[in-house]
Amino acid sequence: MAAVRDTFRRPIRDLRVSVTDRCNFRCPYCMPKEAFGPDHPFLGAAGLMTKEELVRITGVFVGLGAQKIRLTGGEPLLRSDLPAIIHAIKRDLGVADVSLTTNGWFLANQAGALRAAGLDRLNVSVDSLDEATAGRMNGLGFKVSRVLGGIDAAAAAGFPIKVNCVVQRGVNDGEIVPLCDYFREKGHTLRFIEFMDVGNTNHWSLRQVVPAREIVERVSAAWPLEPVGRAFPGEVAARYRYADGRGEIGIVSSVTEPFCRDCNRARLSADGRLFTCLFASAGHDLLGLLRSGADDAAISGLVSGIWRARTDRYSDERAGVLAAGTGREKVEMSYIGG
Ligand code: GTP
Ligand code: 5AD
Ligand code: SF4
Ligand code: SF4
Repeated sequence: MAAVRDTFRRPIRDLRVSVTDRCNFRCPYCMPKEAFGPDHPFLGAAGLMTKEELVRITGVFVGLGAQKIRLTGGEPLLRSDLPAIIHAIKRDLGVADVSLTTNGWFLANQAGALRAAGLDRLNVSVDSLDEATAGRMNGLGFKVSRVLGGIDAAAAAGFPIKVNCVVQRGVNDGEIVPLCDYFREKGHTLRFIEFMDVGNTNHWSLRQVVPAREIVERVSAAWPLEPVGRAFPGEVAARYRYADGRGEIGIVSSVTEPFCRDCNRARLSADGRLFTCLFASAGHDLLGLLRSGADDAAISGLVSGIWRARTDRYSDERAGVLAAGTGREKVEMSYIGG
C-alpha cells in the first residue's frame, strides 16, 4: 500500500502517544501550578485508552507507515501498565523504534523493567544542574540529583539516552555550558529546546526564547562544534558534534528555525484523539469510534482521510499569527504529549 501523504506530501513516520495527562512535576513552561491545581479537569480512568485500545490504535498507525512510536505524557512513568504497553507494541506490532520521554523522577526504580519490556531508548528532561534553578523549573522543588541518578540507572540498564533542556532566558540560560560539560562526560546527547508557545497557560514571550544560533555560539566558545546532518528524515533536532570527538548536542529550534516542512509526526492524546500538530486546537476522536464497535479498517480510513487533508505548519506561520493577533486556543502539551 502506498504511504499516506498530507497536502505537503509529508508521510506519517512518527506517532507520539500520550499515556496519561497527569504529571508529578509542574514545570511553569508546561503545566504551571496556578493552571494545573487540584481543580484541573484531568482525565478520569474511564476516559483513558486502555492498554488494548492504545495498542490497537497504534497498530492502525503502523499500518499507515509509522515506524517510530514515542510514549509521552504528562509523565508516562505514572502509568502502572507501561511495561505491558511497551511489550505489546514491540512484540505484537513489531515496531523497531519504541522510545519514551520522561522527567526521570521514577526512572531509577523502573529502568530495568522498561528495558526488559523492550523499550529501545529514552529521552529525559534536565533543565538545570543547580538544585535551586531545577526546583523552580519543575515548579515543586523536586531534586535534580534524583533525576541524574535515574539517568545513571537507565544507562546501566543499557539505554541510549538523550537529555532535553528547555532554555528560558533569565531562568536557566546560564546553565548551557555546565550542562554540556556534565553530559559530555557522561556520554549522553544533550538537546536544547527553544521555549515554545505551547498551550495557553505558560506565559510565553519571545523575550524568553534563546535562539538556537545563540546557543550554538555559547557552546562553541567552550568547545568548537561542527554541524551534522539529521539522523533520520523529519528529525526535530539539528545536530552538532564536538570537534574534539566527545559526542554531540542537538537543538530543537521550533521558534527561530521551524522544521514543519518535514513534519511527519502524528499525536495521540491519552483519551485517544488524533492531533495533526502540537499547536492544534482540536483533535479527532479515534477512541470513540473504536468504542462504538468500528473495526481497524474503519479507523484506518478515518485516519488516512484526516492525514491526506492535513495542512498544519504552525511554527512556520507563528510570526504571522502572533503579529496579526489571530492566535486561537491550543491544546495543552501535557494532554497531547509534547
Ligand atoms: P527523537 O526521536 O529522539 O529525536 O525524539 P524527539 O525529539 O522527537 O522527542 P522528544 O519527546 O524528546 O521531544 C523533544 C522536543 O521537541 C520537545 O520539546 C517536543 O515538544 C519537541 N517536538 C517534538 N516534535 C515536535 C514537533 O513536531 N513540532 C514542534 N514544534 N516541536 C516538537
Ligand atoms: N517549550 C519547549 N519545550 C517544552 N517541553 C514542555 N513544555 C515546553 C515548552 N513550552 C518539553 C519538555 C520535554 C518535552 C516532551 O517537551 O521539557 O522535554
Ligand atoms: Fe511534566 Fe514534562 Fe510537562 Fe514538566 S514538561 S510538567 S515534567 S509533562
Ligand atoms: Fe509539525 Fe506542527 Fe511542529 Fe510544525 S508546529 S513541526 S506542523 S507539529
